[in-house]
Amino acid sequence: MVTAEENKMLTQVGPGTPGGELLRRYWYPIAAAAELDENPVKSIRLLGEDLVLYRDRSGTLGLIDSLCAHRRAHLVLGVPEESGLRCPYHGWRFNENGQCLEQPAEKDRGHPYCEKVKLKAYPVRVACGAVFAYLGPLPAPELPMWDLMTEENVLHEIAYATLPCNWFQSMENAVDQDHLDWLHVAFSDYVLERQGRPDLRKRFWRPGEHKGDGDRARLKEMLYERNNLGILRRAVYGDRTKDDVDWRIGIQVVFPNFARAVNDLQIRVPVDDAHFTYFLIRAHWLKPGDVAKQDKVPYFHIPVPIEDPNRMGEIKWKDLDAHATQDMAAWIAQGAISDRTKELLCESDKGVRLLREMFLEQVQVVASGKDPLNVFRDPGEAKSISVPHVEDEDNWGYQQTQLRSRARTANKWSPVLTELIRKYFDEQEASEILKDPVH
Ligand code: FES
Ligand SMILES: [Fe+2]
Repeated sequence: MVTAEENKMLTQVGPGTPGGELLRRYWYPIAAAAELDENPVKSIRLLGEDLVLYRDRSGTLGLIDSLCAHRRAHLVLGVPEESGLRCPYHGWRFNENGQCLEQPAEKDRGHPYCEKVKLKAYPVRVACGAVFAYLGPLPAPELPMWDLMTEENVLHEIAYATLPCNWFQSMENAVDQDHLDWLHVAFSDYVLERQGRPDLRKRFWRPGEHKGDGDRARLKEMLYERNNLGILRRAVYGDRTKDDVDWRIGIQVVFPNFARAVNDLQIRVPVDDAHFTYFLIRAHWLKPGDVAKQDKVPYFHIPVPIEDPNRMGEIKWKDLDAHATQDMAAWIAQGAISDRTKELLCESDKGVRLLREMFLEQVQVVASGKDPLNVFRDPGEAKSISVPHVEDEDNWGYQQTQLRSRARTANKWSPVLTELIRKYFDEQEASEILKDPVH
C-alpha cells in the first residue's frame, strides 16, 4: 500500500522535493534539434522549472531562465544574436551560461554592471537529433548513449507529445505487461467499433497469432526481474515457450524513465507534477544493402487523445487506433496525479510494486549523497550502452513487420515510415497499407 507521503515522493518533480532531487541526476530530451531550425527559441518546462531553449546565430545552444533579470519579460520573445539571446524589451543580452553581456540603456548612461547579472542556466547537449538537458548538481554526468541512438545505417526519428498527467503513471505502464491484451486488443477493438470500422476488429498486436474468435494470444506467464539497468520483463504468450524471445530476452525498462521497444526508446520526461512529455527516439532499419542518409533527424507530433483530465468525456476516438494513443488515454484516464492510496493492487501488479520500491530506494541513495542507478561518470562506458531487446538477430525482418503494423507505437503518424512503405512496397500494396492505418 502506498501512503500519501510515498505518493508525493513518486510524483513530485520540483526542486527540493525528494523525487525531484533524484530526477535531477539524469539528462532529459527536451526538443528535436530540427525544431530550432524552424524557430530558434523554444519555451521549455522541465522538472517544474520554466526555461527557454535557444540557438544563437553562431550555433551555440543555451537553456536559461525564462524570465529576464531586468523586469522579467519572457525570453521566448528573445532575439538570437551572434552570441547569446537578447531580451525583446530593453535589449539585455545573455549567453548560454546565463551571463548578462550587455545592458544597452545602462551603457549609454555609463553604468555597465552586467558582469554582476546572471540568469539560471543549464547544460545542453545534442545527440541523435535530440536536445538533452541536465538540471542537477555539477559536474554533470555523461550523457548516456543507449545503443539504439548509436545504431548505424538506420533512419532515426523523434516523436513526442506532452500529456496532462504525472510522468510516473506512464512509467508504471512500462512494467504492466497485462495491459497489452486489454488496452491494445480488447479496447482497441472497441475503438474500431466506435470509429465505424468493426470489420477491422480482432487484429492482434502480435500479427499472425490470431487463430479465431476468442482465441487471443493471451499472456500465460510473466516475470519482472531486477537487473543492472532497471527491470526486465519476461513473458510467455499463447502456445509459445520460454525459448521464445519474449522470455529469453524480454523487454528492458531502464531506470528511471524509459523502456526499450525494438525500434524505439520510450522516454518519459517530467514537465511538472501534472504534465510530462512522452518522447520517442526511434530507429528504422533499411533493407540489407541499402544505405541510410540523413542530414537531420526529423520529428513529428503524436496527437493527444484527451486534452484535459477534468474533461474526460472529450475523447478523440479517431486518434485512438494506435498503441501510443491508447496508452496515453489510459495514463490520462488515471487523473492528473493518480491517488495511489486508494488503489487495489493485485498479483498482476508485481512490476508496478517493484518499480515503486526501486524509485523510493533510489530517492534514499541520492539523499545519502551517492549517484543513483544509471548515472554514468565514465565517458567510455557512456558512449554506447547496450540494452537488451528482441529481434537483434533479424532487424530487417522486424522492420518489415513495422512497415505493415501501423497501429504499433506511433507508426501511424511517422513520415519516415510512410516514406519507407512507399520505397519497399509496390504502389498498390503501399496504398493498401497507408489507407488502412490499423494492421
Ligand atoms: S525586461 Fe529584459 S531588458 Fe528589460
Ligand atoms: Fe501499451
